[in-house]
Amino acid sequence: MDRFIIEGSRDLSGSINVSGAKNAILPAMATALLAAGKSTLLNVPNLIDLKTMSHLLRVLGARVEYEAGSMAIDASDLCYNEAPYELVSKMRASVYVLGPLLARLKEARVSFPGGCAIGTRPVDLHLKAMEALGATINLEHGYIHAVAKELKGADIHFEKSSVGATINALMAAVLAKGTTRMFNAAMEPEVDSTIDMLNQMGARITGVGSTTLTIEGVESLNPVEIRMIPDRIEAGTFLIVGALSTAPITVTNCQPDHLEALITQLRSAGCELEIEESSITVIPPKVIKPTDIITLPHPGFPTDLQAQFTVLMAHAEGISYVEDTVFPDRFMHVAELNRLQANITMNRNVATIKGVLQLSGAEVMATDLRASAALVLAGMAAKGQTIVSRIYHIDRGYDRIEEKLNGIGARITRENA
Ligand code: UD1
Repeated sequence: MDRFIIEGSRDLSGSINVSGAKNAILPAMATALLAAGKSTLLNVPNLIDLKTMSHLLRVLGARVEYEAGSMAIDASDLCYNEAPYELVSKMRASVYVLGPLLARLKEARVSFPGGCAIGTRPVDLHLKAMEALGATINLEHGYIHAVAKELKGADIHFEKSSVGATINALMAAVLAKGTTRMFNAAMEPEVDSTIDMLNQMGARITGVGSTTLTIEGVESLNPVEIRMIPDRIEAGTFLIVGALSTAPITVTNCQPDHLEALITQLRSAGCELEIEESSITVIPPKVIKPTDIITLPHPGFPTDLQAQFTVLMAHAEGISYVEDTVFPDRFMHVAELNRLQANITMNRNVATIKGVLQLSGAEVMATDLRASAALVLAGMAAKGQTIVSRIYHIDRGYDRIEEKLNGIGARITRENA
Protein backbone atom coordinates (compact mmCIF):
# COMPACT_ATOMS: atom_id res chain seq x y z
CA MET A 1 0.00 0.00 0.00
CA ASP A 2 1.47 3.38 -0.98
CA ARG A 3 2.37 6.02 1.54
CA PHE A 4 3.77 9.54 1.42
CA ILE A 5 6.98 10.60 3.12
CA ILE A 6 6.80 14.36 3.58
CA GLU A 7 9.70 16.60 4.58
CA GLY A 8 7.94 19.55 6.18
CA SER A 9 8.52 23.30 6.53
CA ARG A 10 9.94 23.82 3.03
CA ASP A 11 9.73 27.18 1.26
CA LEU A 12 7.00 27.08 -1.34
CA SER A 13 6.40 29.42 -4.28
CA GLY A 14 5.20 29.43 -7.87
CA SER A 15 2.03 28.24 -9.55
CA ILE A 16 0.00 25.06 -9.42
CA ASN A 17 -2.57 23.85 -11.90
CA VAL A 18 -6.08 22.53 -11.20
CA SER A 19 -7.52 19.47 -12.98
CA GLY A 20 -11.09 18.76 -14.07
CA ALA A 21 -13.66 18.29 -11.30
CA LYS A 22 -14.12 14.68 -10.19
CA ASN A 23 -17.53 15.48 -8.74
CA ALA A 24 -18.70 16.93 -12.06
CA ILE A 25 -17.19 14.14 -14.16
CA LEU A 26 -18.81 11.29 -12.19
CA PRO A 27 -22.36 12.54 -12.95
CA ALA A 28 -21.29 13.47 -16.50
CA MET A 29 -20.26 9.85 -17.07
CA ALA A 30 -23.68 8.71 -15.86
CA THR A 31 -25.36 11.40 -17.97
CA ALA A 32 -23.61 10.03 -21.07
CA LEU A 33 -25.64 6.82 -20.57
CA LEU A 34 -28.80 8.75 -21.48
CA ALA A 35 -27.88 9.04 -25.18
CA ALA A 36 -27.58 6.08 -27.55
CA GLY A 37 -24.29 7.27 -29.03
CA LYS A 38 -20.77 8.36 -28.21
CA SER A 39 -20.20 11.33 -25.89
CA THR A 40 -16.79 12.80 -25.15
CA LEU A 41 -15.70 14.45 -21.90
CA LEU A 42 -12.63 16.69 -22.01
CA ASN A 43 -10.37 17.87 -19.15
CA VAL A 44 -10.67 14.52 -17.35
CA PRO A 45 -7.88 13.67 -14.87
CA ASN A 46 -6.57 10.20 -14.15
CA LEU A 47 -8.33 9.32 -10.87
CA ILE A 48 -9.21 6.03 -9.21
CA ASP A 49 -12.86 7.03 -8.72
CA LEU A 50 -13.18 7.71 -12.44
CA LYS A 51 -11.67 4.30 -13.20
CA THR A 52 -14.21 2.71 -10.86
CA MET A 53 -17.03 4.54 -12.66
CA SER A 54 -15.62 3.48 -16.06
CA HIS A 55 -15.64 -0.10 -14.86
CA LEU A 56 -19.27 0.22 -13.81
CA LEU A 57 -20.30 1.77 -17.13
CA ARG A 58 -18.62 -1.12 -18.99
CA VAL A 59 -20.50 -3.63 -16.81
CA LEU A 60 -23.71 -1.94 -17.98
CA GLY A 61 -22.74 -2.40 -21.64
CA ALA A 62 -21.21 0.99 -22.45
CA ARG A 63 -17.83 1.36 -24.14
CA VAL A 64 -15.44 3.67 -22.30
CA GLU A 65 -12.06 4.82 -23.58
CA TYR A 66 -9.67 7.19 -21.84
CA GLU A 67 -6.66 8.83 -23.37
CA ALA A 68 -4.73 11.98 -22.57
CA GLY A 69 -7.44 13.72 -20.57
CA SER A 70 -10.28 12.79 -22.92
CA MET A 71 -12.92 10.20 -22.09
CA ALA A 72 -15.22 8.74 -24.75
CA ILE A 73 -18.37 6.94 -23.59
CA ASP A 74 -20.46 5.07 -26.11
CA ALA A 75 -23.76 4.02 -24.57
CA SER A 76 -25.36 2.74 -27.81
CA ASP A 77 -25.48 -0.81 -26.43
CA LEU A 78 -26.54 -0.11 -22.85
CA CYS A 79 -28.15 -3.43 -21.98
CA TYR A 80 -27.47 -4.50 -18.40
CA ASN A 81 -29.22 -2.84 -15.49
CA GLU A 82 -27.33 -3.95 -12.39
CA ALA A 83 -24.73 -1.95 -10.45
CA PRO A 84 -23.04 -4.68 -8.40
CA TYR A 85 -21.98 -4.57 -4.76
CA GLU A 86 -18.22 -4.78 -5.55
CA LEU A 87 -18.33 -1.44 -7.36
CA VAL A 88 -20.91 0.47 -5.30
CA SER A 89 -19.12 -0.50 -2.09
CA LYS A 90 -15.92 1.04 -3.51
CA MET A 91 -17.61 4.27 -4.48
CA ARG A 92 -20.97 5.66 -3.42
CA ALA A 93 -21.30 7.82 -6.52
CA SER A 94 -22.08 4.58 -8.41
CA VAL A 95 -25.66 5.28 -7.34
CA TYR A 96 -25.69 7.92 -10.12
CA VAL A 97 -26.52 5.18 -12.63
CA LEU A 98 -29.95 4.71 -11.03
CA GLY A 99 -31.60 7.65 -12.85
CA PRO A 100 -30.16 6.92 -16.32
CA LEU A 101 -30.90 3.17 -16.09
CA LEU A 102 -34.50 3.84 -15.14
CA ALA A 103 -34.86 6.40 -17.91
CA ARG A 104 -33.36 4.20 -20.62
CA LEU A 105 -33.95 0.60 -19.55
CA LYS A 106 -37.04 1.11 -17.33
CA GLU A 107 -35.47 -0.99 -14.59
CA ALA A 108 -32.41 -0.78 -12.35
CA ARG A 109 -30.83 -2.87 -9.62
CA VAL A 110 -28.27 -0.88 -7.70
CA SER A 111 -26.47 -2.23 -4.66
CA PHE A 112 -27.50 -0.24 -1.58
CA PRO A 113 -24.56 2.00 -0.60
CA GLY A 114 -23.39 1.45 2.96
CA GLY A 115 -21.90 3.99 5.35
CA CYS A 116 -18.45 5.41 4.83
CA ALA A 117 -15.68 7.08 6.76
CA ILE A 118 -17.50 10.41 6.79
CA GLY A 119 -20.60 8.97 8.45
CA THR A 120 -23.93 7.45 7.50
CA ARG A 121 -24.97 8.66 4.10
CA PRO A 122 -28.52 7.67 3.22
CA VAL A 123 -29.99 7.65 -0.31
CA ASP A 124 -33.61 8.12 0.76
CA LEU A 125 -33.90 11.42 -1.15
CA HIS A 126 -32.75 9.75 -4.38
CA LEU A 127 -35.35 7.02 -3.93
CA LYS A 128 -38.21 9.39 -3.02
CA ALA A 129 -37.47 11.43 -6.15
CA MET A 130 -37.60 8.31 -8.36
CA GLU A 131 -40.88 7.28 -6.70
CA ALA A 132 -42.31 10.73 -7.34
CA LEU A 133 -41.44 10.23 -11.03
CA GLY A 134 -43.44 6.99 -11.05
CA ALA A 135 -40.89 4.31 -10.17
CA THR A 136 -41.69 1.42 -7.86
CA ILE A 137 -38.84 0.82 -5.48
CA ASN A 138 -38.15 -2.30 -3.47
CA LEU A 139 -35.16 -2.94 -1.26
CA GLU A 140 -34.18 -6.59 -1.56
CA HIS A 141 -31.04 -8.59 -0.73
CA GLY A 142 -28.96 -5.43 -0.29
CA TYR A 143 -30.12 -3.99 -3.61
CA ILE A 144 -32.37 -1.12 -4.65
CA HIS A 145 -34.71 -2.56 -7.27
CA ALA A 146 -36.44 0.19 -9.23
CA VAL A 147 -38.94 -0.32 -12.02
CA ALA A 148 -40.86 2.26 -14.07
CA LYS A 149 -42.73 1.34 -17.24
CA GLU A 150 -43.00 5.03 -17.88
CA LEU A 151 -41.44 7.91 -15.94
CA LYS A 152 -43.87 10.81 -15.51
CA GLY A 153 -43.07 14.41 -14.68
CA ALA A 154 -43.93 15.40 -11.09
CA ASP A 155 -43.31 17.96 -8.36
CA ILE A 156 -40.34 16.92 -6.22
CA HIS A 157 -39.73 18.67 -2.90
CA PHE A 158 -36.31 17.79 -1.45
CA GLU A 159 -36.48 17.85 2.36
CA LYS A 160 -32.77 18.53 2.43
CA SER A 161 -30.38 20.01 -0.11
CA SER A 162 -28.62 17.05 -1.77
CA VAL A 163 -26.21 17.24 -4.67
CA GLY A 164 -26.53 13.54 -5.49
CA ALA A 165 -30.32 13.34 -5.25
CA THR A 166 -30.79 16.50 -7.34
CA ILE A 167 -28.50 15.15 -10.10
CA ASN A 168 -30.00 11.65 -10.05
CA ALA A 169 -33.53 13.06 -10.24
CA LEU A 170 -32.52 15.36 -13.11
CA MET A 171 -31.13 12.43 -15.10
CA ALA A 172 -34.44 10.58 -14.72
CA ALA A 173 -36.71 13.59 -15.24
CA VAL A 174 -35.20 14.71 -18.56
CA LEU A 175 -36.68 11.67 -20.33
CA ALA A 176 -39.91 11.56 -18.29
CA LYS A 177 -43.23 12.40 -19.88
CA GLY A 178 -44.37 15.92 -19.05
CA THR A 179 -43.10 18.58 -16.67
CA THR A 180 -41.10 18.07 -13.49
CA ARG A 181 -40.55 20.83 -10.95
CA MET A 182 -37.87 20.46 -8.30
CA PHE A 183 -37.93 22.52 -5.13
CA ASN A 184 -34.97 22.97 -2.77
CA ALA A 185 -32.67 21.58 -5.46
CA ALA A 186 -28.93 21.74 -4.73
CA MET A 187 -27.04 24.65 -6.32
CA GLU A 188 -23.48 23.29 -6.32
CA PRO A 189 -21.48 24.07 -9.47
CA GLU A 190 -21.49 20.31 -10.21
CA VAL A 191 -25.31 20.45 -10.46
CA ASP A 192 -25.05 23.40 -12.86
CA SER A 193 -22.49 21.55 -14.97
CA THR A 194 -24.78 18.51 -15.16
CA ILE A 195 -27.66 20.74 -16.27
CA ASP A 196 -25.41 22.35 -18.87
CA MET A 197 -24.45 18.94 -20.28
CA LEU A 198 -28.07 17.70 -20.28
CA ASN A 199 -29.28 20.84 -22.07
CA GLN A 200 -26.51 20.50 -24.66
CA MET A 201 -27.79 16.95 -25.23
CA GLY A 202 -31.26 18.32 -25.95
CA ALA A 203 -32.88 18.36 -22.51
CA ARG A 204 -35.09 21.28 -21.52
CA ILE A 205 -34.14 22.40 -18.02
CA THR A 206 -34.62 25.95 -16.73
CA GLY A 207 -33.84 27.57 -13.40
CA VAL A 208 -30.12 26.80 -13.36
CA GLY A 209 -28.38 28.53 -10.47
CA SER A 210 -31.54 28.55 -8.32
CA THR A 211 -33.18 26.06 -5.97
CA THR A 212 -36.23 25.64 -8.24
CA LEU A 213 -35.72 23.75 -11.47
CA THR A 214 -38.24 23.05 -14.22
CA ILE A 215 -37.72 20.16 -16.59
CA GLU A 216 -39.81 19.60 -19.72
CA GLY A 217 -39.38 15.94 -20.61
CA VAL A 218 -38.11 15.11 -24.11
CA GLU A 219 -38.27 11.86 -26.15
CA SER A 220 -34.53 11.27 -26.47
CA LEU A 221 -31.13 12.91 -26.01
CA ASN A 222 -28.11 13.23 -28.31
CA PRO A 223 -24.49 12.53 -27.44
CA VAL A 224 -22.30 15.53 -26.79
CA GLU A 225 -18.68 16.66 -26.49
CA ILE A 226 -18.14 18.81 -23.43
CA ARG A 227 -15.27 20.24 -21.37
CA MET A 228 -15.44 19.52 -17.65
CA ILE A 229 -15.28 22.38 -15.13
CA PRO A 230 -12.17 22.80 -12.93
CA ASP A 231 -12.18 21.07 -9.58
CA ARG A 232 -13.10 23.72 -6.98
CA ILE A 233 -12.10 21.45 -4.10
CA GLU A 234 -8.65 20.78 -5.53
CA ALA A 235 -8.32 24.53 -6.20
CA GLY A 236 -9.43 25.29 -2.64
CA THR A 237 -6.96 22.76 -1.23
CA PHE A 238 -4.13 24.50 -3.12
CA LEU A 239 -5.30 27.95 -1.97
CA ILE A 240 -5.04 26.71 1.61
CA VAL A 241 -1.52 25.41 0.82
CA GLY A 242 -0.77 28.99 -0.27
CA ALA A 243 -2.24 30.42 2.94
CA LEU A 244 0.06 28.13 4.94
CA SER A 245 3.17 29.03 2.96
CA THR A 246 5.58 31.94 3.27
CA ALA A 247 5.50 33.24 -0.32
CA PRO A 248 2.69 33.81 -2.84
CA ILE A 249 1.25 30.79 -4.65
CA THR A 250 -0.83 31.09 -7.83
CA VAL A 251 -3.56 28.54 -8.45
CA THR A 252 -4.20 28.34 -12.20
CA ASN A 253 -7.04 26.97 -14.32
CA CYS A 254 -9.65 27.46 -11.60
CA GLN A 255 -13.04 29.16 -11.59
CA PRO A 256 -12.92 31.87 -8.90
CA ASP A 257 -16.71 32.35 -8.72
CA HIS A 258 -17.00 28.73 -7.49
CA LEU A 259 -14.73 29.54 -4.54
CA GLU A 260 -16.36 32.62 -3.02
CA ALA A 261 -17.03 31.20 0.46
CA LEU A 262 -13.42 30.04 0.82
CA ILE A 263 -12.07 33.33 -0.55
CA THR A 264 -14.05 35.25 2.09
CA GLN A 265 -12.68 33.05 4.88
CA LEU A 266 -9.10 33.22 3.61
CA ARG A 267 -9.36 37.02 3.67
CA SER A 268 -10.69 36.85 7.25
CA ALA A 269 -7.67 34.70 8.11
CA GLY A 270 -5.43 37.55 6.89
CA CYS A 271 -4.56 36.38 3.34
CA GLU A 272 -4.48 38.76 0.43
CA LEU A 273 -5.96 37.37 -2.78
CA GLU A 274 -5.42 38.53 -6.33
CA ILE A 275 -8.21 37.20 -8.48
CA GLU A 276 -8.00 36.93 -12.26
CA GLU A 277 -10.43 35.29 -14.69
CA SER A 278 -9.10 31.75 -14.20
CA SER A 279 -6.41 32.05 -11.55
CA ILE A 280 -6.05 33.18 -7.96
CA THR A 281 -2.84 34.23 -6.23
CA VAL A 282 -2.81 33.87 -2.48
CA ILE A 283 -0.40 36.04 -0.51
CA PRO A 284 -0.07 34.48 2.92
CA PRO A 285 -0.25 36.58 6.09
CA LYS A 286 2.65 36.78 8.56
CA VAL A 287 0.26 35.62 11.25
CA ILE A 288 -2.86 33.56 10.49
CA LYS A 289 -5.93 35.00 12.23
CA PRO A 290 -8.45 32.61 13.82
CA THR A 291 -11.58 32.37 11.67
CA ASP A 292 -14.74 30.37 12.39
CA ILE A 293 -16.44 28.39 9.64
CA ILE A 294 -19.72 26.52 9.32
CA THR A 295 -20.10 24.17 6.36
CA LEU A 296 -23.34 24.55 4.40
CA PRO A 297 -24.73 23.65 0.97
CA HIS A 298 -23.41 25.87 -1.84
CA PRO A 299 -22.93 28.85 -1.85
CA GLY A 300 -21.95 28.20 1.79
CA PHE A 301 -18.55 26.93 2.87
CA PRO A 302 -18.03 23.44 1.33
CA THR A 303 -17.76 20.43 3.64
CA ASP A 304 -15.11 19.06 1.25
CA LEU A 305 -12.73 21.84 2.38
CA GLN A 306 -13.49 21.58 6.09
CA ALA A 307 -10.57 19.28 6.96
CA GLN A 308 -8.06 21.37 4.99
CA PHE A 309 -9.30 24.63 6.58
CA THR A 310 -8.97 22.98 10.00
CA VAL A 311 -5.25 22.54 9.24
CA LEU A 312 -4.98 26.26 8.47
CA MET A 313 -6.72 27.12 11.73
CA ALA A 314 -4.39 24.77 13.61
CA HIS A 315 -1.71 27.36 12.71
CA ALA A 316 -3.74 30.46 13.65
CA GLU A 317 -2.84 32.74 16.52
CA GLY A 318 -5.86 32.10 18.75
CA ILE A 319 -8.97 29.92 19.00
CA SER A 320 -11.31 29.11 16.15
CA TYR A 321 -14.39 26.94 15.71
CA VAL A 322 -15.14 24.71 12.74
CA GLU A 323 -18.66 23.27 12.48
CA ASP A 324 -19.78 20.74 9.86
CA THR A 325 -23.55 20.78 9.36
CA VAL A 326 -23.48 18.78 6.10
CA PHE A 327 -21.63 15.69 7.38
CA PRO A 328 -21.60 16.05 11.19
CA ASP A 329 -19.34 13.00 11.69
CA ARG A 330 -16.67 14.13 9.27
CA PHE A 331 -13.88 14.72 11.79
CA MET A 332 -11.72 11.60 11.49
CA HIS A 333 -8.72 13.82 10.69
CA VAL A 334 -8.83 15.51 14.10
CA ALA A 335 -7.21 12.65 16.02
CA GLU A 336 -4.52 12.38 13.34
CA LEU A 337 -3.86 16.14 13.38
CA ASN A 338 -3.48 15.96 17.16
CA ARG A 339 -0.76 13.33 16.60
CA LEU A 340 1.06 16.15 14.79
CA GLN A 341 0.61 18.21 17.99
CA ALA A 342 -2.38 20.24 16.90
CA ASN A 343 -4.67 21.15 19.77
CA ILE A 344 -8.20 20.33 18.66
CA THR A 345 -11.12 19.17 20.78
CA MET A 346 -14.49 17.97 19.55
CA ASN A 347 -17.96 18.65 20.82
CA ARG A 348 -20.44 16.87 18.54
CA ASN A 349 -19.93 18.44 15.10
CA VAL A 350 -17.90 21.41 16.28
CA ALA A 351 -14.11 21.41 16.48
CA THR A 352 -12.45 23.89 18.83
CA ILE A 353 -8.98 24.61 17.53
CA LYS A 354 -6.36 26.26 19.70
CA GLY A 355 -3.79 27.40 17.21
CA VAL A 356 -0.16 26.42 17.64
CA LEU A 357 2.52 28.09 15.55
CA GLN A 358 4.26 24.91 14.49
CA LEU A 359 3.03 21.35 14.05
CA SER A 360 5.49 18.53 14.50
CA GLY A 361 5.91 15.65 12.03
CA ALA A 362 4.66 12.14 12.89
CA GLU A 363 3.17 9.02 11.33
CA VAL A 364 -0.51 9.40 10.50
CA MET A 365 -3.14 7.48 8.63
CA ALA A 366 -5.47 8.75 5.89
CA THR A 367 -9.11 7.86 6.50
CA ASP A 368 -11.00 9.44 3.62
CA LEU A 369 -10.32 11.56 0.59
CA ARG A 370 -10.41 15.09 2.00
CA ALA A 371 -9.00 14.07 5.39
CA SER A 372 -5.97 12.68 3.54
CA ALA A 373 -5.48 15.98 1.75
CA ALA A 374 -5.59 17.71 5.13
CA LEU A 375 -2.89 15.39 6.48
CA VAL A 376 -0.66 16.12 3.47
CA LEU A 377 -1.11 19.87 4.07
CA ALA A 378 -0.36 19.42 7.77
CA GLY A 379 2.74 17.34 6.97
CA MET A 380 3.98 20.02 4.57
CA ALA A 381 3.64 22.69 7.25
CA ALA A 382 5.01 20.58 10.13
CA LYS A 383 8.58 20.53 11.35
CA GLY A 384 10.41 17.33 10.43
CA GLN A 385 9.12 14.25 8.66
CA THR A 386 5.50 13.14 8.36
CA ILE A 387 4.46 9.78 6.96
CA VAL A 388 0.90 9.52 5.65
CA SER A 389 -0.19 5.93 5.07
CA ARG A 390 -3.24 4.59 3.19
CA ILE A 391 -2.94 7.29 0.55
CA TYR A 392 -5.09 5.34 -1.90
CA HIS A 393 -7.84 7.58 -0.50
CA ILE A 394 -6.10 10.65 -1.93
CA ASP A 395 -5.59 9.02 -5.34
CA ARG A 396 -9.37 8.67 -5.58
CA GLY A 397 -9.77 12.40 -6.03
CA TYR A 398 -6.44 14.17 -6.59
CA ASP A 399 -4.44 13.66 -9.78
CA ARG A 400 -0.70 13.24 -8.98
CA ILE A 401 -0.98 15.50 -5.94
CA GLU A 402 2.61 14.92 -4.87
CA GLU A 403 3.97 15.88 -8.32
CA LYS A 404 1.87 19.03 -8.33
CA LEU A 405 2.92 20.04 -4.81
CA ASN A 406 6.57 19.17 -5.44
CA GLY A 407 6.33 21.55 -8.41
CA ILE A 408 5.92 24.47 -5.97
CA GLY A 409 8.70 23.33 -3.66
CA ALA A 410 7.22 20.60 -1.45
CA ARG A 411 9.22 17.42 -0.86
CA ILE A 412 6.82 14.50 -0.94
CA THR A 413 7.92 11.01 -1.91
CA ARG A 414 5.57 8.16 -2.73
CA GLU A 415 6.74 4.89 -1.28
CA ASN A 416 5.36 1.43 -1.69
CA ALA A 417 5.43 0.11 1.89
C1 UD1 B 1 -21.56 15.15 -2.86
C2 UD1 B 1 -20.07 15.06 -3.10
C3 UD1 B 1 -19.31 15.10 -1.78
C4 UD1 B 1 -19.73 16.34 -0.98
C5 UD1 B 1 -21.24 16.40 -0.83
C6 UD1 B 1 -21.73 17.69 -0.18
C7 UD1 B 1 -19.91 13.72 -5.12
C8 UD1 B 1 -19.52 12.43 -5.73
N1 UD1 B 1 -19.79 13.81 -3.78
O1 UD1 B 1 -21.92 13.99 -2.11
O2 UD1 B 1 -17.92 15.16 -2.07
O3 UD1 B 1 -19.14 16.26 0.31
O4 UD1 B 1 -21.86 16.33 -2.13
O5 UD1 B 1 -21.32 18.78 -0.90
O6 UD1 B 1 -20.27 14.67 -5.79
N2 UD1 B 1 -28.63 13.05 2.41
C9 UD1 B 1 -29.74 12.41 2.88
N3 UD1 B 1 -30.42 11.58 2.04
C10 UD1 B 1 -30.04 11.39 0.74
C11 UD1 B 1 -28.91 12.07 0.26
C12 UD1 B 1 -28.22 12.91 1.10
O7 UD1 B 1 -30.10 12.57 4.04
O8 UD1 B 1 -30.71 10.63 0.03
C13 UD1 B 1 -27.88 13.95 3.30
C14 UD1 B 1 -26.41 13.53 3.49
O9 UD1 B 1 -26.27 12.55 4.49
C15 UD1 B 1 -25.75 14.85 3.84
C16 UD1 B 1 -26.55 15.88 3.01
O10 UD1 B 1 -27.78 15.24 2.67
O11 UD1 B 1 -25.96 15.14 5.21
C17 UD1 B 1 -25.87 16.32 1.74
O12 UD1 B 1 -25.44 15.19 1.01
P1 UD1 B 1 -25.34 15.20 -0.58
O13 UD1 B 1 -25.35 16.61 -1.07
O14 UD1 B 1 -26.35 14.27 -1.13
O15 UD1 B 1 -23.89 14.58 -0.80
P2 UD1 B 1 -23.47 13.60 -1.97
O16 UD1 B 1 -24.17 13.94 -3.23
O17 UD1 B 1 -23.49 12.19 -1.47
